[in-house]
Amino acid sequence: MEKIRIAVLVSGGGTNLQALLDAQAAGKLPDGEIVLVVSDRAGAYALERARKAGVQAAEILRKACGEANRQAVFEGKLEAALAEARIDLIVLAGFLSILSEEFTRKWDHRILNIHPSLIPSFCGAGVYGLKVHEAALARGVKVTGATVHYVNEIPDGGEIIAQKAVEVRPDDTPEALQRRVMEEAEWILLPRATETVCREISARKTGRT
Ligand code: GAR
Repeated sequence: MEKIRIAVLVSGGGTNLQALLDAQAAGKLPDGEIVLVVSDRAGAYALERARKAGVQAAEILRKACGEANRQAVFEGKLEAALAEARIDLIVLAGFLSILSEEFTRKWDHRILNIHPSLIPSFCGAGVYGLKVHEAALARGVKVTGATVHYVNEIPDGGEIIAQKAVEVRPDDTPEALQRRVMEEAEWILLPRATETVCREISARKTGRT
């Protein structure tokens, strides 16, 4: 059976990418194969992680896509890279660019994203990375977590696939909470959800239900 070809889109350090690469190396992603990693930021460490794992790594920099029509030019380059690598599924792992309605429609139910909160709390445009944990601490929630969801035209608004709760401790800093959410939720949830979706796509492709 052919594996589902996965592209992981990143912007930064890539610990979630690493969790996916580790899961693949450990045989925990049997229905998928990570074949391409794309960063929208120059020098993202995630690209180094991809290269070390022997996965093709590419930079498609937004800043190099002009001023007028930047989104369309960026997405055009991205589509070309995805087509060339014959990608079936896109995983956003700390990817901080918003994708257009046109793009997400074309890839309906074929883009996953990991977000470091229990959606619908602490999410949406402009709420990402450490800001999510700052907002959770400011609101005083006692439980937070992570969510894997399909991506549609609404930032963090697509169908939820999986969630995992994480306890907030009284002495938490945003950095400490971010780390615990990654360790206890994100790095477990993302590889699992990716395998589940790969299995579902495979089943659809081969006519199994
Ligand atoms: C992760 O916590 C991820 O959930 C978050 O950015 C971090 C990236 O870390 N993503 C978002 O906030 C998206 N809205 P990583 O590069 O080490 O995986």
